[in-house]
Amino acid sequence: MDQYRVFGNPIKQSRSPFIHQCFAEETNQLLNYETQFAELDGFNQAVAKFINQGGKGANVTAPFKEQAMAMCDELTAHAKFSGAVNTLTFKDGKIYGDTTDGVGLVNDLLANNVKLENKRILLLGAGGASKGVVLPLLDQNPESITIANRTVSKAQSIVEQYTNKPLSACSFDEANEQVFDIIINATSAGLTGEGLPIAESLITTNSICYDMTYGKDLTPFLQKAKALNAKKVIDGLGMLVGQAAESFYIWRGIKPNVDSVILKLKSSF
Ligand code: ATR
Repeated sequence: MDQYRVFGNPIKQSRSPFIHQCFAEETNQLLNYETQFAELDGFNQAVAKFINQGGKGANVTAPFKEQAMAMCDELTAHAKFSGAVNTLTFKDGKIYGDTTDGVGLVNDLLANNVKLENKRILLLGAGGASKGVVLPLLDQNPESITIANRTVSKAQSIVEQYTNKPLSACSFDEANEQVFDIIINATSAGLTGEGLPIAESLITTNSICYDMTYGKDLTPFLQKAKALNAKKVIDGLGMLVGQAAESFYIWRGIKPNVDSVILKLKSSF
């Protein structure tokens, strides 16, 4: 049976085995997908061992996405621009790397009837999560993407990767003065429950608000958006399942259905 893993540290909390098992059942694919803990200094070794055992592919999560990129023989443009890899494929003695987070996000937005073409997008945060979604968002031909970050220089360095794209960097204060159609929270503030320094005027009844994180309850950002009557409030559960679906497609050549899995995960909280 073809073997797949998700490597991380910590990794116990990962929903990926459940998601991929659902995909496999739905598409009649025979495969095994398990979590694999790696020591902080033992990622390369753990992957090498898995390849030797005949592993076909792997997902990679924190804190190994950059190391995963470094071990690849070939990378997609999405992986190169994001500086990280979450999907490894082992084939003919080579390691192929891709990152599917951005496509997962875009597909989830489209599935929620959020069109990105000609839209003004505000991306909050300039860490790995943000970096990984810029190219797939640009591919949708938005009017503009503005990256706002507490440390503005980090947003600027993402912008500098691209030429001739409608992309800019600013502070939260500067973003608060502007108007956007779609606001995407890619900071880690949603995880800690800390509030973001965004003005109430930023969110109107026309705003689409998306948080890349998810949980049983709405994130503080989405709670704020809901209280301000934002047009749509969407959490990152669909992105989680969407990125997994893209990995599954890379490995198996079949696109699984995401809706039933999203529902199953929602009811498991
Ligand atoms: P990830 O891989 O999840 O993106 P990261 O690379 O550590 O994690 O990036 C975290 C992001 O969340 C950064 O943009 C960080 O802002 P700084 O670059 O200024 O540190 C942002 N962030 C975290 N907590 C925040 C908070 N309370 N308010 C605003 N931004 C926050």
